[in-house]
Amino acid sequence: MRDIHVSYPRRSGLFSRVKHDTVVKGVTFDISPGETLGLVGESGSGKSTVGRAILRLAPVASGSISFEGVDVLNARGSGLRRLRRDAQMIFQDPGGSLNPRMRIGDIVAEPLLIFGVPAPPDVSRAAFLAKTVTELLERCGMPADCATRYPHQFSGGQKQRIAIARAIALRPRLIICDEPTSALDVSIQAQIINLLTDLQRDLGLAYLFISHDLGVVSHICHRAAVMQQGEIVETGPVEQVLKSPSHPYTQRLLASVATLPPGVAA
Ligand SMILES: Nc1ncnc2c1ncn2[C@@H]1O[C@H](COP(=O)(O)OP(=O)(O)OP(=O)(O)O)[C@@H](O)[C@H]1O
Ligand SMILES: [Mg+2]
Repeated sequence: MRDIHVSYPRRSGLFSRVKHDTVVKGVTFDISPGETLGLVGESGSGKSTVGRAILRLAPVASGSISFEGVDVLNARGSGLRRLRRDAQMIFQDPGGSLNPRMRIGDIVAEPLLIFGVPAPPDVSRAAFLAKTVTELLERCGMPADCATRYPHQFSGGQKQRIAIARAIALRPRLIICDEPTSALDVSIQAQIINLLTDLQRDLGLAYLFISHDLGVVSHICHRAAVMQQGEIVETGPVEQVLKSPSHPYTQRLLASVATLPPGVAA
């Protein structure tokens, strides 16, 4: 991402002219394959907007984004398709991201159907989908028999596992994790973090890991970037940023440091 600016239109009254609030102001960073970049900063600083911009879900006013050779902001056709396949997102509220009317098996299979992932020559499409969904769910710690049930029948942690199974279905290269554990109970947070770490190791995933929780960030991120009011004020290796921050804002943020949830594998 190079020098990205994002502005939202704002109309202060019925007859007044539309003004724009620039909420991301010149953000630049890189994420390498297999790397986790932590994005921290206070509420409203623009973290989620930056994450959404990568997926073309934010109104980018200027700047450029390149994802594995795809010019994100101008992508069409096959480039856009690659972006949609290779960059995924998981959210804070897993319940809100799962369609309540779909069975778990269909939720996880949906990306495979949309992208027409082909079955091997000697296997029927239905059998291929069923097997792949079972493998994805089990990989994320969910029993295969959950496939016939509905989202409301699962806990928050289980729903996040299901959302992760769906997110990895197309073998993405990057997952934007927008506070994926902050709605969960502390012990469950640790399980989800361990799952994300294992998946990264096994699948070579890169993560943009958006979080308020500096304890979690210091555990799973390789590098960290600190946002304040739409700008990145500090970036570097996670130990450096979180142990000896140079920017006063990071120092203040650290003063309210949270501890690592118990049970996170060291
Ligand atoms: N769709 C939108 N329309 C207008 N303004 C928006 C929209 N989405 C976000 N904003 C504004 O952009 C700014 C940044 O929001 P963003 O959600 O990126 O912050 P954040 O750092 O993710 O905060 P939090 O930690 O609370 O999730 C905020 O001032 C917010 O009000
Ligand atoms: Mg946010």
